[in-house]
Parts: sequence; structure tokens; C-alpha cells
Amino acid sequence: MKYAFPDNFWWGSASSALQTEGAREGETTWDYWFAREPNRFHNGVGPQQTSTFYQHWKTDIQLLKQLNHNSFRTSISWARLIPDGIGEVNPETVDFYHQVIDELNEQGITPFITLFHFDMPMAMQAIGGWENREVVDAYARYAQICFELFGDRVLHWFTFNEPIVPVEGGYLYDFHYPNVVDFRRAATVAYHTVLAHAKAVQAYRAGHYAGEIGIVLNLTPSYPRSQNPADVKAAHIADLMFNRSFLDPVLRGEYPADLVALLKAYDQLPACKPEDSALIAEGKIDLLGVNYYQPRRVKCRDSAVNPQAPFMPEWFFDNYDMPGRKMNPYRGWEIYAPGIYDILVNLRDNYGNPRCFISENGMGVENEQRFIENGQINDKYRIEFISEHLTWLHKGISEGCNCLGYHMWTFIDNWSWCNAYKNRYGFIQLDVETQQRTIKKSGEWFAATALNNSFEQE
Ligand code: BG6
Repeated sequence: MKYAFPDNFWWGSASSALQTEGAREGETTWDYWFAREPNRFHNGVGPQQTSTFYQHWKTDIQLLKQLNHNSFRTSISWARLIPDGIGEVNPETVDFYHQVIDELNEQGITPFITLFHFDMPMAMQAIGGWENREVVDAYARYAQICFELFGDRVLHWFTFNEPIVPVEGGYLYDFHYPNVVDFRRAATVAYHTVLAHAKAVQAYRAGHYAGEIGIVLNLTPSYPRSQNPADVKAAHIADLMFNRSFLDPVLRGEYPADLVALLKAYDQLPACKPEDSALIAEGKIDLLGVNYYQPRRVKCRDSAVNPQAPFMPEWFFDNYDMPGRKMNPYRGWEIYAPGIYDILVNLRDNYGNPRCFISENGMGVENEQRFIENGQINDKYRIEFISEHLTWLHKGISEGCNCLGYHMWTFIDNWSWCNAYKNRYGFIQLDVETQQRTIKKSGEWFAATALNNSFEQE
């Protein structure tokens, strides 16, 4: 069967500044944390060792072209643009992003730009990061500066990439700096991130720019183990905490009432100001990026909560290891392609069918060298992964979902936070030592699919 996609469908991939650019001026929390605890990073490899996009951006854009990308998302690094977060703009950084954006446009690759992809300037973290409302204002100023500098040539902006991840990593589960475990502080960070998002949207609207503004959320559909009310409630609470805590404010302009009631009942609500709700209502977006990697399967708790333990989302559910689920063993994530369809249908039926696209989807695999055939990684598993997800995406579109494109994580194998280079996601293999780039089989498959705007499958 042939799966054809709508005209002007966005085919591309996503990456981020810190994961690709390489060592430069402007310290982030990652540089700071790595200098102190390199053991927290796979094989002790830190954010200095990247695919050197800062040097190789021009040839890398040629490779994007070879993969027939018509669009590409990367991020601007706040710390590199404004090293202390609030003061002078670094002119060299401005020149760099100007060149990248211009070259992408010249090559017919539409730039999609994210303003914050996990990379808090250390100077901002030193004053409390997202816990401090001054950082919210500093971010809004940074966003405005980016719109003024690049807003005439960038028509698709994203305020944040996966804003729930720094909340989970930094304030609940200890896999991002500042390694705090404290739900109330996590809720404050999440809340202030929504305020920062809304202020950036406000600034964008005030500037009357030609393009559109959105956010990228990692949506993990929550599936209950059974239809037993206790399992269903567990899935509902997981959905409120991990999806709707950002999805509702950015699409509906307000928080779900039952999320607010739940946090209130456990005295976990962040401090709010009376003017916040009007601001949040102004943060409604034009375009939603959906990152989808895995579903969340949950069941009601089997054991009582230890009341002395820190308050955590898991007070309300247990994770459910469904027998026989298909796993990506390297990342430990379930592979469940229908999830992409369920997300789109939920957006269509419950959120007014917003303009959206799949902004990340992908499969990280360890030791891909073992799949080299005639000098090229034959990553059949990745082609299978993509085509399976695309068939479900296609079904969503054919049933009226407003999905405008599909971007993969990622373009060239890149440095991946605490996992460093453990799992490789790229269409292009990177030799970290020599910086040599070699297109994988999946890159060729994707290039053909993008060119034809379709693919064939039995
Ligand atoms: C997404 C992020 O969560 O997944 C990326 O936007 C990240 O920055 C990617 O690299 C893959 O996840 P991981 O943890 O395997 O690197």
C-alpha cells in the first residue's frame, strides 16, 4: 500500500544547540554539572564533545539537503547569546545564528527555532533558575531579543522543548542539575516555565511578526492496565501531571481544575499572583510540536504510601510492565506506534484539532557499528520504527487530524545529556574522534520518502 502525505508536509529532523554545537563561551548548567560530577555522564563524556555544528554548520546543512529535508529544528542557546542571561548580547553568537538561519533558508530548508532546550545559563541557575520569577523576566527579554534579531527570517518559533523534562530531571528524579527531589519546588518550576512561555508569546504577538509561535511538548499517552476505576484514575492522574500540566495551559489558556484541586489537597501548589491567570490565557499557541517516544502504562498502587516519604507523582500510580510489550532495550522505552495516532485523536477531539506536527520521534540504539555492511550502518530497525509510526500518523491525518509534518530525532548522532553517546539516534553516523559523517540506510530511506512525499509498505 502507498502512504501519501498532504502537500507541503514538513519532512525533517530536530536537534538542539548544546547537543551539537560544541565548546563555546557561555556556561550552562550542563557545563557546570559536568565539571563537578563527570561520573554522572555515560563514559564521562560531557557537553564539550559534540558533532561540532559550530564549525561544520555549512557542510551539515548540505547533508540536510541530501536527506531532502524541507524543514529543520534546532535551538538558540540563551547562555551563548547572553552569557550572563540578562546583560550584553554576544555579537559572535548573533553572527553564527544569522549565518545558520540564512543558509537554511537559502537551501530551501525552513528553520524551526526553539528558544530553550534544557540549557539554562548557569548565571540564571545561580539565582534560582525557574524557581525565581526574575529568571522568567530574563527569559522573556531573551525571547524578545531573538524575535528582533531573527524574526524576519524565522517563521516558526517554539518557546520550550519538553518543558516537563527539566522539572522531572532537576526537581523530582535526579537526572538534571540541580538534582533536587521536592515536588513543591518542581511544581513552582513548572508553573514559572508556563509563565515564561506566556510572556514570550505575549512579546511575539506585540511585535506583529510574520510567523507563528508554539511550544514542543513530549506527550506520553497514559494507558491504564484495565478499565477498573482504580486503574483508570491512576492513568488520569499521570496524564494530568505529565501531559496536561503543560498541554492545557498552552492550548486552553488554563490549568485543568482537577490538577489544581489535587495539588491543593496535598499542599503542593506554587505561589500564584492574581495577574498570572490573564497572562497564562495570553500564552495560547499557534502551533504544537509533539515529541513522541513511548507511552506510559500505569496501574493503581499495590502498596500503601509511606507518609514519611517525599510527596511524588507515584503516590497515585505504579508503572505497569505490560507482558509482551515491544521494547527498545537500549533506552528501556516501549515502542508503541499507535500512541502517535492516539495523541492526534486526543488533540482533535478534546483540544479543537490544533495545528500540530510530530517534532520528535526516534529510536536510540547502542553499538550500531555491529550493523555496518559495506561501510554503512544498515539500521533496518529504525526504518521499521519510522514506517510503523508513519502509518499511524497517516491514519490520523486521513481521519482529519491537523498534523502538518514529521521530524525525527535526530539528524547526526549527537551528545545526549547523561547518556552522552550511549544510544545513537541519527540518520547520519558520527565518528566522534574523526568527526566523519556517514549516511545510514535510514537516512537514505527518509530522503526517498521526503522526496516522494510518500512511501510504500505491504
Ligand atoms: C528528547 C529530547 O527527549 O529525546 C532530546 O528533546 C533527547 O534532547 C532525545 O536527546 C533522546 O533522549 P535521550 O535521553 O535518549 O537522549
